[in-house]
Amino acid sequence: MNAPLQNRVALVTGAAKRIGHALAVRLATEGADVVIHYNRSKSEADAAAAEIAKLGRKSIALQADLCSLAEIKHLFQQTAERFGRLDILVNSAANFLPAHVEDTTEKIWDTALDTNLKAPFFCAQAAVPLLKQSHGVIINFADIGGILPWPGYIAHCASKAGVIMLTKCLAKALAPEVRVNAIAPGTITMSGDPSEWEADFIRRAPLHRTGTTDDVADAVAYLVHAKFVTGQVLVLDGGRTL
Ligand SMILES: NC(=O)c1ccc[n+]([C@@H]2O[C@H](COP(=O)([O-])OP(=O)(O)OC[C@H]3O[C@@H](n4cnc5c(N)ncnc54)[C@H](OP(=O)(O)O)[C@@H]3O)[C@@H](O)[C@H]2O)c1
Repeated sequence: MNAPLQNRVALVTGAAKRIGHALAVRLATEGADVVIHYNRSKSEADAAAAEIAKLGRKSIALQADLCSLAEIKHLFQQTAERFGRLDILVNSAANFLPAHVEDTTEKIWDTALDTNLKAPFFCAQAAVPLLKQSHGVIINFADIGGILPWPGYIAHCASKAGVIMLTKCLAKALAPEVRVNAIAPGTITMSGDPSEWEADFIRRAPLHRTGTTDDVADAVAYLVHAKFVTGQVLVLDGGRTL
């Protein structure tokens, strides 16, 4: 099997389920050993690590609440102790909190910003010593909500717009050793999500479909290998933002 990422180590945040899980499996399929980060989804994280072990790669599930700087530091210490290196950091963990102007509480604001923006920064900061050694790569997750203003998701949109600027700042700050890019997905179809999200997106997007976790995994694989690309936002939205 073609394994271009053999002997490389990836850490994917929020990798127990959904998009993060698909990315972890793709990176393992390409040969990487993978740290499955999770917060609450322990059984799914353990299952993901077992799935990756079956592919012949090393994997471990590590818990951390990414709203805690101490827990972020511990996550990367454990990664260094276990694997001794880190080549790929994928900041996928996030929340998606709805709130209009009048119902945005301080708690909603802080939870959106802490999880979606502060955590990716401090994960990057904690990963930098290892990533500089390996000439590694960071892939952040923005959202088309960081480009389009959604009045029902103000804190979310602000957090994801912040991820776009964070990506550009980090790309400049960490070059030439570390490349930093972001993916801004539109609606990615996942079981359990409201079907009206899908229908609305299909109606508005020129390609008349939603994305799949494979679409996102393809984009991550591209950015991992794209040696001349840094500071960019890959908008993965079937043309929805045009
Ligand atoms: N799904 C979409 O259509 C879509 C569209 C645009 C952008 N995106 C972006 O793509 C990425 C992945 O999307 P997704 O839908 O797969 O994400 P998700 O299911 O909403 O969240 C992924 C994981 O984030 C983790 N997480 C949340 N708060 C955390 C915290 N305080 N500390 C640590 N982990 C925390 C959770 O882990 P545990 O379950 O272990 O607690 C959760 O499983 C996100 O950044 C999202 O904003 C997704």
